[in-house]
Amino acid sequence: MRTRVRVLGIETSCDETAASVVLGDGTVLSDVVHSQVALHAPYGGVVPELAARDHLTNIRPVVEAALERAGTRFGELDGIAVTCQPGLTGALLVGVQAAQGLAWALGKPVVGVDHLVGHLLAVYLRHPGLATPEPPEPPFVALVASGGHTALYRVDGLEAARIRELGATRDDAAGEAFDKVAKLLGLGYPGGPVIDRLAEEGDPEAVELARPMPRRDTLDFSFSGLKTSVVRWVMAHGRPGNDQVLRDLCAAFQRRVVDTLVSKAVLAARREKVGCLVLAGGVSANRSLRARAVEVGGRHDLRVLVPPVQSCTDNAAMIGFAGGVRLLGGANDADSLVTSPETALPRVTRKGRGQRGRLR
Ligand code: KG4
Ligand code: ZN
Repeated sequence: MRTRVRVLGIETSCDETAASVVLGDGTVLSDVVHSQVALHAPYGGVVPELAARDHLTNIRPVVEAALERAGTRFGELDGIAVTCQPGLTGALLVGVQAAQGLAWALGKPVVGVDHLVGHLLAVYLRHPGLATPEPPEPPFVALVASGGHTALYRVDGLEAARIRELGATRDDAAGEAFDKVAKLLGLGYPGGPVIDRLAEEGDPEAVELARPMPRRDTLDFSFSGLKTSVVRWVMAHGRPGNDQVLRDLCAAFQRRVVDTLVSKAVLAARREKVGCLVLAGGVSANRSLRARAVEVGGRHDLRVLVPPVQSCTDNAAMIGFAGGVRLLGGANDADSLVTSPETALPRVTRKGRGQRGRLR
């Protein structure tokens, strides 16, 4: 039953127009992503108005390509899943309208999916032809590190109601820190992949930078101090050229981010007494983060699972799978689909200072 449910996933929350056909067991039949990186690159970040207009141009060809590559006709779909939060409102509305229209025309159910739930469940996707480790049995702890969010969750089941935030960033998201530092160093947008590449040939010990959130016992994150530390370094030494100093600076910055993410994720898994740690979100494409999480997690007898890179960065397959869970439960949001810039997952971390609730 689970395998046979065939879902069209649609994702337009930020700067990727994506569509995918996924089976209920996570088998990815197609995974089409149109990236807007070139459109936003001259501005050093995503311009919401341009993002929405570009989604409008591309949503139809991207959805058609997803169906064609999956060898699926519209009539063969069992339902449609679409990201409805969090994200840029104009961008979300394009995907939601497309999904609503298709569902209406086809007489099929449509469900809204929280983008962060999509990231958290990406570890269940199976790409034919790609070796995929056995997916985790809840409970597990997962780190979502993306351009807009950085948080740790306890996952007790695949429904959003069974996912609980344990701690999150008080200021910048990890990906945002990568992007801002890259912009400062004149490396273009997005910053993560280019810093990842440069850091590989750098010496992280050669440059002294602040440690993000030095308190080790909290599951909150803070990356703005580290960002300021890079700004101060550049003010004191000047912006490095394309040389070894640049590589060293990137390596030092990346080391600080990776160490913080890994140590807090492992701390969360140990506190929650789970045997499995999952990484998700665009920053989980980072090679150093992936390697370090496996290494440190292994030392604590944790099974560390990281989806393939294309399932870490924004995609519609994860939305299709998370929506499939809701569709299988009988959900249909046709009359109630709304968008929101915020996640539906309850937050325990207050931006700026203090916690909203007490951590266990
Ligand atoms: O999950 P995602 O694709 O979109 C959001 O939901 O935000 O994450 C995008 C973020 C960007 O900040 C990008 O710089 C970062 O993920 N990123 C990386 C890498 N690839 C993408 N950060 C570090 N290393 C990478 N290899
Ligand atoms: Zn994302």
